[in-house]
Amino acid sequence: MLPPAFVEIAQLGKTYLTPAGPAEIVRDFTLDVAQGEFVCLLGHSGCGKSTVLSILMGLNTPSTGGVTIGGREVNGPGTDRGVVFQSATLLPWLSVRDNVRLALDQVTRRSAGTETAETYLERVGLAGLGERFPRELSAGMQQRVGIARAFSLEPRLLLLDEPFSLLDALTRMELQDELMRLWEATRRTVIMVTHDVDEALLLADRIVMMTNGPAATIGKIFDVPFARPRDRDDIVGRPDYFWLRDAILTVLEMGGPDMAPHTPQALGSAPAEPGRSST
Ligand SMILES: Nc1ncnc2c1ncn2[C@@H]1O[C@H](COP(=O)(O)OP(=O)(O)OP(=O)(O)O)[C@@H](O)[C@H]1O
Ligand SMILES: [Mg+2]
Repeated sequence: MLPPAFVEIAQLGKTYLTPAGPAEIVRDFTLDVAQGEFVCLLGHSGCGKSTVLSILMGLNTPSTGGVTIGGREVNGPGTDRGVVFQSATLLPWLSVRDNVRLALDQVTRRSAGTETAETYLERVGLAGLGERFPRELSAGMQQRVGIARAFSLEPRLLLLDEPFSLLDALTRMELQDELMRLWEATRRTVIMVTHDVDEALLLADRIVMMTNGPAATIGKIFDVPFARPRDRDDIVGRPDYFWLRDAILTVLEMGGPDMAPHTPQALGSAPAEPGRSST
């Protein structure tokens, strides 16, 4: 039996009004996400991933359909959601600790003290650096602060829009591992946009593929069967890692709304091509 939906996205559509006329970007996007699930949203650049996520954040309004989180309709931003973007958007005049604390204070409507902020900074590998200012940190460290800030609010839902895409490969891997550990410890529901197939395979329970726009929708959904806690080196050594990766890349290459239905047999028989790179 399927677990009850925590996030319900129903027939979501978005048409932007542009000088050239209405542009239908997303059409009929319907998805249920269970409590504690980690979902990655994957698709080509410009297909509408951030548009969907920004509607979940309450920063953008849908043209059709709607979203509920824990049964409550989304009609604006809320403290039940933590967000992380490509760059950390820290306040430069505040220390790292105060950047985290400010968010906490807003949510709890009282001074949260330094303890919680320090705990979450520690959890992302920034122990003892709370007094530094954002300008004194590398891009990767700043992004860690952004993640600490989002998790410290203990939101019911985390919405991450390509949080690692501006980082170098090594830092990206470190942050993926940290995010995974933090998620293992907290089991918050996560919806994360990414371009990176390997990142999605490492982190997600399900990978939701969007078709190419315009009028993009869900093309295919892949279950990621790897047991948790996951170890990067273990999973890449599994034959089904490459089958799954190849199947996802094939869907990305096809891109259109007429993606062939996915079956486990087709997946199992897909050739392994370890040398192929992700998008
Ligand atoms: N406010 C807006 N007004 C008009 N068009 C917009 C607006 N926001 C986004 N778009 C268009 O909608 C489409 C989807 O944009 P979106 O940012 O959602 O894509 P994306 O999948 O997140 O892309 P990327 O992977 O590059 O981040 C693009 O063609 C973009 O130009
Ligand atoms: Mg985007």
